Parts: sequence; C-alpha cells; structure tokens
Amino acid sequence: MDGNGRWAQEKSKPRVFGHQEGGKKVSDVIEAAIESGVKALTLYAFSEENWGRPQHEVNALFQLLTSYLEREVLKLNRENIRFRAIGNLKRLPERCQNLIAKAEQETLQNDRLILTLALSYGSRSEIVESCRSIGFKIKSGLLDPSEINHDVFAQHLYANNDGLADPDLLIRTSGEQRISNFLLWQIAYTELYFSPVFWPDFSKEHFKEAIRDYQNRQRRYGKVSESIST
Ligand code: FPP
Repeated sequence: MDGNGRWAQEKSKPRVFGHQEGGKKVSDVIEAAIESGVKALTLYAFSEENWGRPQHEVNALFQLLTSYLEREVLKLNRENIRFRAIGNLKRLPERCQNLIAKAEQETLQNDRLILTLALSYGSRSEIVESCRSIGFKIKSGLLDPSEINHDVFAQHLYANNDGLADPDLLIRTSGEQRISNFLLWQIAYTELYFSPVFWPDFSKEHFKEAIRDYQNRQRRYGKVSESIST
C-alpha cells in the first residue's frame, strides 16, 4: 500500500494524513477483491524496516490499525471474511496483538475471502525463522534432514501459511518497481503488476484493471505454452 507519504506531501499535508486516507481505501479494495472472485488478499501494511521511521509516524500507524480492528471486525464477520496477520507480531503494541488474536479467533470459520495483513513483516526474517525452527526440529529428532522439501520448508513460514497457495498476482502501487522484502519465497512464479497510482487514490476500478491485466497474461511456470507444438 505504497505512496501515502508522497500523496500527502503533494497536497502539502503531513505524511500521517496520507496514511489516514490510505487506511480508508482498505475496505474498497477488499470489496473489489470479493467482486472479482479473489479468495485471498494480503496487504503489506507495515514492514520490519518501517520500525526505522520517526516514532510519531509509527505510533500513528498503529493507532490507525487499532481503530481499524476495533471498528471493522464485526463487518468482516458479517461479510464472511477471515482475518489473519503475518509478521513478527511480538513487536507490535500489546493492544494491537490482543485485537489481532481476537479478530483471528472470531473470524476463523469464515471462507469467502482470507484477508491477511503483513505487519512488522520482513520476508528474509521469515525465511531465517523457518530455517531456525526446522533446525530445532532436527536437533530434537523430530525431523530428518532428508525430509526437507519445498512443502516442509513452506510449512515453517509465518502462520504455517494456513494452507494458502502462493499468490497469483502482486500489485505494487506508487510507481516503485521493487519487491521490498515481501513474500520472497511465495512469489517465485507470481505475476507482478506495477501501478503508478499512489495508494490513497487506488480505487476499486484500479484494482479491477490490475485483475484484467493479469487475466490476459500467459503463465508458463518455466515450461512452454500449450499451443506450441514440438
Ligand atoms: C507505505 O507508504 C505505507 C505504509 C508504510 C503504511 C500503510 C498503512 C496504511 C495504508 C494504513 C493502516 C492499515 C490498515 C489496515 C488500517 P509510504 O508511507 O512509504 O509512502 P511514500 O513511499 O510515499 O513515502
């Protein structure tokens, strides 16, 4: 959800105003995802590196997240949306951690859309953590190194990935064309879509345009197209 700060600066407003307006776009994009038949949506809301931002900005972001969770969980439930969070959640303010646990618990049975927020998330750390927990299992005799394969490795990523498939499409807003430590393991064959639009201006229509673009792509996963004969 990139570009909140620049969006605000363009309007001579404080960066935090951009985050507030960006927060308001979350429901629109959830709606657009449901209308498009998307079954899982992951929003990168706060990276591990974002802890290095000025304290007042970090505080404002967690304040926004807290009010979002206080306000929206009933609605998520009504809409049959399951909520989950991934990342180093232990670093989050306690109030946020409690609200996340409550939201995850209360929406556990919902299956129309799985909404994941990546919070205090860094993919390299996720991969290192996975290696560490596999190492501990080997040390305690619960796992043999010969049993390690892609599936076993992925099962040790945050929240066991809850059986989610790898993402089909990754959308990055604000014109930046990089991955920024997001789901590095999971996006090996994900289609990438870069939108020049700053997140607070990213509408349902922009989301659907990204989906249409994706639908016109041909995914070969390193193989050749089925229409190509030998
Ligand atoms: C990146 O834009 C955005 C963030 C670090 C925060 C995203 C958070 C929200 C949209 C609101 C909180 C979330 C919820 C679910 C209510 P940036 O600040 O890096 O923008 P810039 O690149 O223009 O500086």
